[in-house]
Amino acid sequence: MTADAHTDPLHRYTPLQASDEPYAEDVLAGLRADAAQIIAKYPQKRSALLPMLHLIQSVDGYVTGRGVDLCAEMLDLTRAEVSGVATFYTQYKRHPNGEYTVGVCTNTLCAIMGGDQIFDEVSEHLGIGHDETTPDGKITLERVECNAACDFAPVVMANWEFFDNQTPETTKKMVDDLRSGVPVAPTRGASRVCSFKQVSRMLAGFEDGLADEGVGAGHASLEGLRLAKEQGWTAPAADASTDGEAEETTRDAEPETGEAHSSARASGTDTPSGTDKEKDA
Ligand code: FES
Repeated sequence: MTADAHTDPLHRYTPLQASDEPYAEDVLAGLRADAAQIIAKYPQKRSALLPMLHLIQSVDGYVTGRGVDLCAEMLDLTRAEVSGVATFYTQYKRHPNGEYTVGVCTNTLCAIMGGDQIFDEVSEHLGIGHDETTPDGKITLERVECNAACDFAPVVMANWEFFDNQTPETTKKMVDDLRSGVPVAPTRGASRVCSFKQVSRMLAGFEDGLADEGVGAGHASLEGLRLAKEQGWTAPAADASTDGEAEETTRDAEPETGEAHSSARASGTDTPSGTDKEKDA
């Protein structure tokens, strides 16, 4: 299916090799210099693949064919090995991504708190479905399986910045503001939402100075701590004698020579079989 850039959402089946034309000389020189910095952080250069893929996205906006080639060449990997990693993680995009990735959590908790409704209404509002991008290239919409902020459900993320306790209306306003260039501030963390390419560069290891900006753990996340302090609750101290008992139990659970015994039972993770029950009796 060929997408009309003016009227249709960009489609997710754009091939990985969609951008195989060579990099401009200065762009390639910059990429190689940045990649060398990343590679120098690791004892084995193949370990640099994840940040390298973010670096490619910071320039191309997704993992292009030419980006795969560059990673393979610089890390002594095959194209298949690079593609295997790029297709495994959802943060790596196989097609041109929007300037802002808007991820609506539709995992169980958020879904029942309104996440499904938010996704449906925003999808209709933008005229795109999951993993599709608006024709202006601004917003890529995604369903996300837990944004790791369940205590603020329903949660939406824009380029991995938190938007807590959302409604269909607040999220539609957020995407409208992002599309029209109005500065948008997340609920917590950084004071503004950066572009996909800017965030990709930060994920490649090049600090933007915003990582520690603003509040990380919000009110709902700290409620248990507040309650514990108020009630004087503390975690039980480590008990050395209990540790000794655990060791003894483990030794007791070792099978005698020639005795049938499941390893699951010895570790206390399974119910004894009928034969073992009889022996225990
Ligand atoms: S279920 Fe939505 S953030 Fe965890």
